[in-house]
Amino acid sequence: MRPVDARAVVGASRGGYRDAHFMSVTFRIATTADVPVLREVFGREPSDEQIGIAGGDVRRARRFRELMASALFMPAGLAATTVAVDDGRVAGFVQSGSEAGLTWGVALGTLRIFGWRTAGFVRRDRARRSVHLPHPPGAFHISELHVLSSRRNQGIGAALLAEAERLARGRGHTQMSLTTTLSNPARRLYERFGFATVATREDPGYRAVTGIDGRVLMVKQLD
Ligand SMILES: CC(C)(COP(=O)(O)OP(=O)(O)OC[C@H]1O[C@@H](n2cnc3c(N)ncnc32)[C@H](O)[C@@H]1OP(=O)(O)O)[C@@H](O)C(=O)NCCC(=O)NCCS
Repeated sequence: MRPVDARAVVGASRGGYRDAHFMSVTFRIATTADVPVLREVFGREPSDEQIGIAGGDVRRARRFRELMASALFMPAGLAATTVAVDDGRVAGFVQSGSEAGLTWGVALGTLRIFGWRTAGFVRRDRARRSVHLPHPPGAFHISELHVLSSRRNQGIGAALLAEAERLARGRGHTQMSLTTTLSNPARRLYERFGFATVATREDPGYRAVTGIDGRVLMVKQLD
């Protein structure tokens, strides 16, 4: 494991380094033993997008988020997940690859959560799909980036991006990509890190369901 001084990667951030204590973060690929802490980092609280797609039903949106976590942390997902460890504890993770698609497990789990309301869920999920932006072929695509809520704004997200870039370069990629919502404050972090918005997709149906205007595709050139 390689220790990283997170100040080096967040040094250029607006307002400079915001945490007083010296942070020495190390990185490694996730294992099945990490799943409970990865679930904790991913968090139980659904996003505005998830609440919207659940028809405003926060309890079901929470169960749906748990279902998504199960899909993310299957063995193939773990192999594509890098964890940041600080003070011996996992403080965040980055996952690469395509965004989780519809598997039988997710389809059955969705039916179990929404029951007869599944038709409404599918209709609202279609609105989400209308703003989907495919990532550029051959790009190292970041599908998930999360930091433990109590450890945010200390440079761990930037350190995970730097580690993802190291992996991407090592594997010969010339581009990194990610998608997020127009309203996510994480866009500032991505821009600071060299990502630029290359496509925006807005949709009135998506706005009606989620209260968010749309989604963006962001790309960082590595050559
Ligand atoms: C995005 C996230 C990983 C950043 O991790 P972090 O360790 O706090 O990041 P850093 O300390 O390196 O940088 C802080 C930057 O995060 C962004 N940020 C701040 N609060 C945020 C929030 N609630 N949600 C998302 N991003 C946020 C800002 O850009 C901030 O920099 P700024 O204040 O100068 O604009 C973390 O906030 C998180 O896990 N958010 C929830 C999940 C999420 O939104 N993931 C991204 C999905 S595309």
